[in-house]
Amino acid sequence: MAQASNASVAPPTDDELGRAGLGLAVEGQVARITISRPERRNAMTGRTWTTLAEIGRTLPADVRVVVVSGEGDIFSAGIDLNMFTPEGVDGERSIVAGLADGSADPADLEGYIAELQEGFLWLRRPDLVTIAAVRGHAIGAGFQLALSCDLRILADDAKFCMKEPALGLVPDLTGTKPLVDIVGVHRAVEICLTARRVGAEEARDLGLAELVVPAEELPGAVDDAVAAVLATDRDAATATKALLRQAPDNTLEEQIAAERRAQVGRLTALAAGMAAGQG
Ligand code: CAA
Repeated sequence: MAQASNASVAPPTDDELGRAGLGLAVEGQVARITISRPERRNAMTGRTWTTLAEIGRTLPADVRVVVVSGEGDIFSAGIDLNMFTPEGVDGERSIVAGLADGSADPADLEGYIAELQEGFLWLRRPDLVTIAAVRGHAIGAGFQLALSCDLRILADDAKFCMKEPALGLVPDLTGTKPLVDIVGVHRAVEICLTARRVGAEEARDLGLAELVVPAEELPGAVDDAVAAVLATDRDAATATKALLRQAPDNTLEEQIAAERRAQVGRLTALAAGMAAGQG
């Protein structure tokens, strides 16, 4: 799991963000990340994901909510398909060229994919609430990015598609676990192996969207969700998210023990606050 924020490290510069096809606006407790390559339908590259990881590592400690969206009327067309050509994209390494010419071995490639996965992993951090605001297509890596967030708020024109198997690949950007956790193995097999589009209404019915709104209402709905999250106590929110995130993998016994430990931690902090107030 990605480490918590370290505000002492410099965040990506505007130039680095631009080359990664990303926008970043941090205002107080809210960071807004925009996938921004409209001429490529917000397709993403390896640099997009290593820069996303860098954003996570350097997020100011004040930030509690992260909103991820796409520029314009599409979330993301997924990986930039030129990443699979020998030329790669704009000086970035091609994913296949090294294997084809023998200059990279499978272990190298696994290490590289692990670096890319870091761009998705940190969105699960318990001290943050992450929201994907999805308009239009979220394909492949775009769908996996939305799945990495805690909440998905969709415009009614949103469409998810796990395209990887149709391209001879597997989804490898951390999306298979949340997909199965949400829809179950059998529906996940059906969605991935048919690579069909899942529209907004169906996504809501399957639990892949917390909310579906008319496209023009998406920014307002996201702002409402941000405000609601910010109204809760930060430490309690962090402890609760940590608890909920571990629940699917815990037995009931393990989970209720974790609840007790977390509550003792909260009560201890509240008691210390009361004592300090009296002193
Ligand atoms: N990579 C690179 N370029 C892309 C792109 C992509 N993923 N998606 C769109 N573009 C480019 C198109 O080539 C086109 O470029 P030109 O103007 O130079 O011709 C431009 O963006 C506009 O695209 P369209 O005309 O196709 O736009 P549209 O609105 O008609 O359709 C779309 C939009 C449905 C997203 C369609 O572009 C599409 O299906 N794109 C490919 C989606 C895809 O297969 N993504 C990869 C999924 S797998 C993955 O992400 C993870 C993994 O690891 C494998």
